[in-house]
Amino acid sequence: MTQIIILGATGSVGETAYRVIQAQPDRIAVDGLVAHRQAEKLWEMGQRLHANWIGLTDREQAAELRHQHQGQSGPRIISGMDDILEAIAISPATKVIGAMSGFSGLMPTLTALENGKDILLANKETLVAAGDLVQRVALQRGRKILPVDSEHSAIFQCLALNQPFKRILLTCSGGPFRGRTKEELKTVTVEDALRHPNWSMGAKITIDSATLMNKGLEIIEAHHLFGVPYEQVEVLIHPQSIVHSLVEFVDGATMAQLGWPDMAVPVQVALSWPDRWPLAGPALDLTQQPLTFDKPDTDTFEALDLARQAGIAGGLMPTVLNAANEVAVGLFLSRSIRFLSIVEIIKDVLGAFTDNTSVVALEQILEADRWARRQAEDMAMRYRL
Ligand SMILES: NC(=O)c1ccc[n+]([C@@H]2O[C@H](COP(=O)([O-])OP(=O)(O)OC[C@H]3O[C@@H](n4cnc5c(N)ncnc54)[C@H](OP(=O)(O)O)[C@@H]3O)[C@@H](O)[C@H]2O)c1
Repeated sequence: MTQIIILGATGSVGETAYRVIQAQPDRIAVDGLVAHRQAEKLWEMGQRLHANWIGLTDREQAAELRHQHQGQSGPRIISGMDDILEAIAISPATKVIGAMSGFSGLMPTLTALENGKDILLANKETLVAAGDLVQRVALQRGRKILPVDSEHSAIFQCLALNQPFKRILLTCSGGPFRGRTKEELKTVTVEDALRHPNWSMGAKITIDSATLMNKGLEIIEAHHLFGVPYEQVEVLIHPQSIVHSLVEFVDGATMAQLGWPDMAVPVQVALSWPDRWPLAGPALDLTQQPLTFDKPDTDTFEALDLARQAGIAGGLMPTVLNAANEVAVGLFLSRSIRFLSIVEIIKDVLGAFTDNTSVVALEQILEADRWARRQAEDMAMRYRL
């Protein structure tokens, strides 16, 4: 029986993990579940999965939940990030599913690795903001980072035999605005951007999918996960989201992993690897629609090249890119700026970052993240509606 912790249990990936785990009661036991504010939902999940503890980073929500369930049997309630990190550190769990959104996933991921746990990582921002550091800690502690992001899971499966390859082809649906011009993007709304054609996901990643920043972040994620230089990672538009990514080997043979767009597969692959477990779901039917591929429009969707360039620059530049993007996406979601201003703010912040250095310590990352967030807020004043 494998004991696990789920970070971001109440989110889209967290709920998928919850479904996968409920179907595997003889294989997986849950020690802890972590979320930010959705207290009652986390409590119910904890009850159903017989978790030993649940943790809420929002202390007020944790206090309220304790009050509501005083005297009832159920998981222990942990409050605030510091106590959650302590619970992760001493947990008997050997695997941690990293499904928090954004930079908030960094500290729990590092704590898990430092304390001998493998990470099953959906939270790409952690690798974007601190990939060198996270990989170094994993290597030092002899721990694995298993991808849960569907594209990286596909690549991971294609590379199972560790054979030499020429390039990685990351597939990308193109998001809700595929084929639109910049002019047409000037007036799109939050609702338009949240209407992803194939995937149902949290708000932040859905907006990233509309700007194509999501694919940009995934280029950096692939660089860190597979130790591959940036010039060997390409993006291929594939609107049907059936081919989850491809690897071209040195002899030209190209392998891909296919399936319906459902995160249950990559979550379960990461949990079961190197074994495979049965999973209920409709069989893939390739006769239903043609599979098409195209080049991305990097002039309209500038985020893709911005992320690649930040990755190539290395050091703290990806940390700054990630923080600026998180702030700009938040401002767009709160209807404070227009869609196209997201990329303009990121460009402004990256342009103002003149102190790039290689990363030796966590404090550098935390400081660069704080700096970029402040800058993004300041620069956004020009774009506010
Ligand atoms: N959704 C997908 O299909 C998908 C696919 C590939 C990769 N990913 C990646 O997986 C991660 C999660 O995505 P998602 O779509 O599941 O996001 P989501 O639905 O927005 O869920 C985010 C989760 O993180 C928690 N959270 C948010 N802010 C937090 C904070 N400051 N401290 C602690 N916990 C916090 C949320 O808790 P509350 O609910 O309590 O607020 C929730 O449990 C992202 O990094 C995303 O890029 C997602």
